Amino acid sequence: MTSVTLKNVCKAYDKLLISKNVDLEIKEGELVVFVGPSGCGKSTLLRCIAGLEEITSGDLYIGEERMNDVEPSKRGVGMVFQSYALYPHLNLYDNMSFGLKLAKAKKSEIDTRVHHVADILQLTHLLERQPKALSGGQRQRVAIGRTLVSQPNVFLLDEPLSNLDAALRVNMRSEITKLQRKLGCTMIYVTHDQVEAMTMADKIVVLDAGSVSQVGRPLELYHYPINRFVAGFIGSPKMNFMSVSIEDTEDERVKVKLANNESFWISVEGKTVNIGDRMSLGIRPEHLLNAEQADATIEGKVQIVEKLGNETQIYMNLASADADVIYRAADTLDVEVGQKYNVGLTAHRCHLFHRDGIACRRLHRESGVDYDAMIAEK
Ligand SMILES: Nc1ncnc2c1ncn2[C@@H]1O[C@H](COP(=O)(O)OP(=O)(O)OP(=O)(O)O)[C@@H](O)[C@H]1O
Ligand SMILES: [Mg+2]
Repeated sequence: MTSVTLKNVCKAYDKLLISKNVDLEIKEGELVVFVGPSGCGKSTLLRCIAGLEEITSGDLYIGEERMNDVEPSKRGVGMVFQSYALYPHLNLYDNMSFGLKLAKAKKSEIDTRVHHVADILQLTHLLERQPKALSGGQRQRVAIGRTLVSQPNVFLLDEPLSNLDAALRVNMRSEITKLQRKLGCTMIYVTHDQVEAMTMADKIVVLDAGSVSQVGRPLELYHYPINRFVAGFIGSPKMNFMSVSIEDTEDERVKVKLANNESFWISVEGKTVNIGDRMSLGIRPEHLLNAEQADATIEGKVQIVEKLGNETQIYMNLASADADVIYRAADTLDVEVGQKYNVGLTAHRCHLFHRDGIACRRLHRESGVDYDAMIAEK
């Protein structure tokens, strides 16, 4: 059990800077998830922590010790890669004990550790089998088990579930979370999957082109994104953005005017906002409403109707919006492509962004978020 601290870490390949001034504090026993678009440097950062890549500048601490120049095997770190290769000619026991044998551990020690890990991962009855006689999920557990037997203090997983089908992913997701809680190890987990990030993480780190955009608890990022990038990245389908102008402003609220001239106050910090500014209003598809219940309405032409059974997603074209506005309505709705459709906005669900993407801090207190603690931490 160990903390991981990155101080102003940069990683460049030749002259190309990939990871940029990364400052992170990961506490002992925390499960931290890295998310971000493809190519933003998630794997690179993980490999820097593992010691598979050299850090170009800055400091990496694992526990109290500076690790920049410590070789990978001495860092107490175990990594599970996205494309895990098991040795096809070895059975599970030998696959899992391979590293310990190389490290010349005692036979009795190896035996204890492999059986302990196999027990946790429910692989004991399969130890004699070869990888080809296993399901995808079982193989994945072997790959995790292989890393676990080395008893890392810090566990790094790079999209470990991306090869699995949907049902297995759900199952393995909860298995990994339980395992992490049980072992109490520090874990850094990279994923593309929104649900994995939201459900597994104590803390999510959103990376944008190699820089940390925001770090926070899942619901903090969902309700209080600090910029448009995080707002658009967290949540699926994505947040809707539309252009508004500012009609009035006070310290703790801002009056926005939609393209259809409807205006309403929203409760965000107004100190940095000026009357007449063009800004971007954000609202999540699940927070749009039936038009009658709302503070303001927008009208668009229906482009796509997706009937998913439990809900209907309607994509509407609106001149002032950056992309089709998506409305997620509970249940099925009687809507046809091509028709005009009205949906409602509620003021307390809205986000407001400056033209440079920085959010005005929302002052509405969402349930499930310790608002005061969040502000105190900033
Ligand atoms: N060995 C290397 N030499 C040069 N450039 C590299 C090297 N490894 C990675 N890169 C570049 O660094 C950037 C970040 O790559 P990285 O693999 O960390 O992204 P990622 O966030 O893990 O993406 P993905 O979600 O697709 O796995 C990419 O632009 C990639 O091309
Ligand atoms: Mg990657």
